[in-house]
Amino acid sequence: MVLRAAMLWLAGNTRAEDLVRRAPFARSMVERFVAGEDSETALAAARALRERGLLVSLDLLGENAPDEARAAEAGRAYLALLDQIEAAGLPGNISIKLTMLGLDNSDELAWEKLEAIVRRADELEIFVRVDMEGSDYTERTLGLFRRVHDLYPKAVGIVLQSYLYRTDRDLDEMIERGARVRIVKGAYKEPETVAYPHKSDVDAAFRRHIELLLEDGNYPAFATHDEAIIRMTQGYALRMGVERSRFEFQMLYGIGKRRQEALVAEGYNMRVYVPYGTSWYPYFMRRLAERPANVLFILRQMLRS
Ligand code: FDA
Repeated sequence: MVLRAAMLWLAGNTRAEDLVRRAPFARSMVERFVAGEDSETALAAARALRERGLLVSLDLLGENAPDEARAAEAGRAYLALLDQIEAAGLPGNISIKLTMLGLDNSDELAWEKLEAIVRRADELEIFVRVDMEGSDYTERTLGLFRRVHDLYPKAVGIVLQSYLYRTDRDLDEMIERGARVRIVKGAYKEPETVAYPHKSDVDAAFRRHIELLLEDGNYPAFATHDEAIIRMTQGYALRMGVERSRFEFQMLYGIGKRRQEALVAEGYNMRVYVPYGTSWYPYFMRRLAERPANVLFILRQMLRS
């Protein structure tokens, strides 16, 4: 837990970012989790996954746009990505983060970009998933999501994080409105006032949320690499008579590759989240924080450099 907290703190630290970006060991580790630095490379990776029967969601990395110009740039990049997906004839979703579209600046700035992206996606029949970020943004992210979901209910879905106490309530609301939910454990550093501090409680909440989504959700996505929870999900779906076509599993690019393919072979929908772009640092650090072996490796390398 202490190591995880340290890595998540470093994820927001610019001096650590400089060190990691310059470190010779970083490139091969980054390549494991990030599909490339531009959309062409990411689309090629997505095509290779599709050929193996996997579904994809493309994510242009970036968060916390510092000004309006950067938010506008991100908005344009996502619109271009939608056209590239269409031109490539590649069935695929995209995942977006509202802080990349200007949420730190104002709700209206992020809304303008979000609405334009979802409107275009709706025209192209591409699905947009709004990722969930740190808890400071949860309320505003849900507010903007409700607005855009009212306009384009088929084209957009949300992520909820089981580690937050509030998620029991938010999940009920999202099920009620028929929104497509990706449920995750949660990846950010959160205080005990808003999130379960113990992993066992997070796992218990995650299981509870998966059951609710299997019972009443609209094509839910279970995003996890946790084998015990994947098996529990399969078992619960079977007991409840929920067909495999009515939900999907999701995993991150570079994690659990063999398991991803095995799930496809078993007849499950399996989507891989394919991140790309030059702003990979915070995403990369969160992935390292999820696994103690990764954390120890990188801390040792940083102390040496
Ligand atoms: P857990 O962390 O318990 O890991 C279970 C096992 O999986 C580990 O024992 C290990 O074997 C393997 N594993 C997990 N992470 C690994 C890693 N980084 N490297 C190597 N092995 C690893 N979070 C968020 O807050 N907002 C969001 O929008 C999203 N979006 C999202 C999309 C998708 C498709 C996925 C899969 C995940 C997210 N997440 C996320 C991240 C999520 O909250 C969570 O941090 C990670 O999925 C890790 O949790 P697990 O459920 O895998 O379990």
